[in-house]
Amino acid sequence: MKIIKVKDYAKMSEEACSIVVNKLHQLENPIFGLATGSTPEGLYECLIEEYKQKRASFKNATTFNLDEYVGLDKNDPNSYNHFMNEKLFNHVDISNEQTHLPNGAAEDLEKECSDYEALIREAGYIDLQILGIGTNGHIGFNEPGTSFSSRTQVIDLDESTRNVNARFFNSLDEVPTNAITMGIESIMESKEIVLLASGENKAEAIAHLIEGEVTEDFPASILQKHAHVTVIADEAALSKVKA
Ligand code: GLP
Repeated sequence: MKIIKVKDYAKMSEEACSIVVNKLHQLENPIFGLATGSTPEGLYECLIEEYKQKRASFKNATTFNLDEYVGLDKNDPNSYNHFMNEKLFNHVDISNEQTHLPNGAAEDLEKECSDYEALIREAGYIDLQILGIGTNGHIGFNEPGTSFSSRTQVIDLDESTRNVNARFFNSLDEVPTNAITMGIESIMESKEIVLLASGENKAEAIAHLIEGEVTEDFPASILQKHAHVTVIADEAALSKVKA
């Protein structure tokens, strides 16, 4: 696991941005796995700027997002679909057909999960997966206790996760209780992974990710077993790492 220590959120975003831009230049048809949450917003802003300055183009890229809330239509302002359109897709040269998120409003959710897996497989798997991390160690929405051999699935959101994410909704009651998420095994199949973290509230999680026991009780710990992971974290997020 490679650790890149940066000063702050802005530097974390710039580092991640340069890795994504390099992939856009290196690969003919790069496939990105994308994340939502507050953490990657700065990365997306930087990518939009790179596109505007004509230093990067997404016209040959494909994207797959990690997760989506169950029960929210893709136009719902709290859906991850809407988030991605607002924060990235609407501002760069990528068409709807090139971007993928699970459909949380699908009638048959099991089929939606297996179809999503098939799409990733048929595309040739993810070249670069961007991850954030939950304070409880979740990646995507794979909550503690999720099997390391899980594939894209419907999960019950932890109460702690619903509480943390309630800041985006009018009230806790509005936060969905379920989500579709790429599974741990699906994430581990990515050829390369970049995990981003900023701020003191991520320090415990980052310490466990880097130095803790590999256990299903802390889903992100499995990344210790992946051959090509880079953690880009700021000083505050790395403040509890011992070594
Ligand atoms: C969310 C997402 C994750 C994200 C994490 C941290 O609930 N499902 O993909 O990495 O929680 O979010 P944030 O970046 O806002 O701290």
